Amino acid sequence: MREIYLKACGKINLSLDVTGVRQDGYHDLSTVMHSISLYDRIHIVWEPNEEGGMQIRICTNRPYLPVDERNLAWRAAQLMNERYGSQAGIEGGVLKISMKKSIPVAAGLAGGSADGAAVLIGLNRIWKLGLNTRQLCRLGEELGSDVPFCILTQNTRYRAALATGRGEHLQPLRKMMKKHIVLAKPPFGVSTKEVFRHIDAYEIPMHPDHRALIHGLAAGDDEEVYRNMINVLELYTLEHYEAVKKLKDTVRSRTSAEKVLMSGSGPTVFGVYSSMKEAKKACSILRDLRYEAYWASTDGR
Ligand code: C5P
Repeated sequence: MREIYLKACGKINLSLDVTGVRQDGYHDLSTVMHSISLYDRIHIVWEPNEEGGMQIRICTNRPYLPVDERNLAWRAAQLMNERYGSQAGIEGGVLKISMKKSIPVAAGLAGGSADGAAVLIGLNRIWKLGLNTRQLCRLGEELGSDVPFCILTQNTRYRAALATGRGEHLQPLRKMMKKHIVLAKPPFGVSTKEVFRHIDAYEIPMHPDHRALIHGLAAGDDEEVYRNMINVLELYTLEHYEAVKKLKDTVRSRTSAEKVLMSGSGPTVFGVYSSMKEAKKACSILRDLRYEAYWASTDGR
């Protein structure tokens, strides 16, 4: 038996721009992604046996989550076995993946992608495959657009990257943001597919300037960073989900946030704070207002 424990961190988008529609139906993006200290705990146990074939068993503390091929962690295990199982001499066995989830589901925080990334990284180690981060990222692309970023940040010291293409071309950023954040979400999920399907109909009034944002991060210039923290997907989500707009207004007006933005396609909104004390205060205000809220930071795990 071999086992491994991993932390699968979520992400926020400090900015997100849609730059075109692709032949494959996906959109070309340009987005600065940042990992956060909110993570799922993943425990993988591999028990080889003589029977042949691989059984994947997933258990999670979120009873509503599927534990079959609809779960990205399941698909990651299957993909790894298909591509590299025989090379590693894997003949048969039981793979148990237990996921203690803290990252909210369908929230725009890449919770599912982080779990899938952790399974690829974990099996690479358990099965001693020797794949490097680049190879793992390429494999991760097949699972979802956010998976390569999650692999980069789980498997290296980088915490932020400029992602382009479908989200899979990563330019790691040396400087990370050192801030405290509060994540808050209304009691529903938003489908990424739905948001992207409708975003083409919008005239985008203001695009983030990523060079300026990255320069601001490198120089520690908060104003330059905040000016360019723009997520164009807000155009659709805030218009069609009144509760998300209300939440964003609430975080802005009721807490001491220096900046408030929706992450990914939503519905999670995050506020940026100068200290952990301010973030905790904001978090309790939002919880009193019955929002699901978490405080976290953008550095460390
Ligand atoms: O890649 P992932 O499965 O996370 O994407 C979910 C959905 O979001 C896709 O099916 C697609 O409709 C949309 N999407 C997109 N362009 C991207 C990323 C996602 O249109 N770059």
